Amino acid sequence: MSAKAPEKILVINGSPKCRGSLTLKLTDAFIEGMLSVRDCTVQYINVSEKKIKPCTGCLSCWGRTEGECVITGDDIPEIRDSILSSDYVIESFPIYFFGMPGTLKVMTDRLLGIMCTFSGQEIDPIKTERHALRSPKEGQRLALITSCGFSESGDVFEPVMKQYDLVFGKGKYSYLCVPQLKALAQAGSGQRLEKLQALAREAGAQFISSGKIAPELVQTLSNPILSQKTYRVLMEKFWHDEKDEVSK
Ligand SMILES: Cc1cc2nc3c(=O)[nH]c(=O)nc-3n(C[C@H](O)[C@H](O)[C@H](O)COP(=O)(O)O)c2cc1C
Repeated sequence: MSAKAPEKILVINGSPKCRGSLTLKLTDAFIEGMLSVRDCTVQYINVSEKKIKPCTGCLSCWGRTEGECVITGDDIPEIRDSILSSDYVIESFPIYFFGMPGTLKVMTDRLLGIMCTFSGQEIDPIKTERHALRSPKEGQRLALITSCGFSESGDVFEPVMKQYDLVFGKGKYSYLCVPQLKALAQAGSGQRLEKLQALAREAGAQFISSGKIAPELVQTLSNPILSQKTYRVLMEKFWHDEKDEVSK
């Protein structure tokens, strides 16, 4: 009897900073947590390094070409294959203007063809995803890991959470929304980073074991690590040092 092939994890890194992404530092820890439970193959896609032409809005993929995009000559086919063949899709990105970075949005729009055609059918607004996959891989799970620069997490992450609820269905995906990540870019932030990474590792282990992350853990990660006052001092120092660098 042949051994079962290992499950496949796909990380879609939407930060234009690619490997320099602070969000990705948490995502890497999350993946470590997943791998501590069982062996999987892991593929990373840095969206900014891919050639992706924007959607032209022709909707052929929902009509004439049945799932296929008419645009050719870019990296969308390989991204699409990776998504469709993965057991776990992890989207990792920073909040830009209270949404996802433009590069990731451009990629997402180009994937309309892998979603079912909408022909006016009624959709349960709470439970059902509005953009269900045309040919879903059985048991495929999605997690969203996002971070922001602002101190509070409520309002900042709300638009993205609403977008994911509408697209994938409330409760159909897991998420970690982590504020104040800029504080990790500074010298001496090692302990803060390690603390967050340990929590992200635990979240990854829970996600692969049960398909869910405990609400308390999600909440802990969404709490600001620093007081507003301390964060402000750190941010001011950060920008001050940046200006010093330029004037050297
Ligand atoms: C163009 C741009 C827009 C941003 N908009 C927001 C925003 O609306 N709210 C926020 O809290 N942080 C905002 N930020 C800060 C980033 O979300 C934050 O620094 C993030 O942790 C960076 O993650 P990364 O290192 O993974 O790219 C913005 C940053 C950039 C470059």
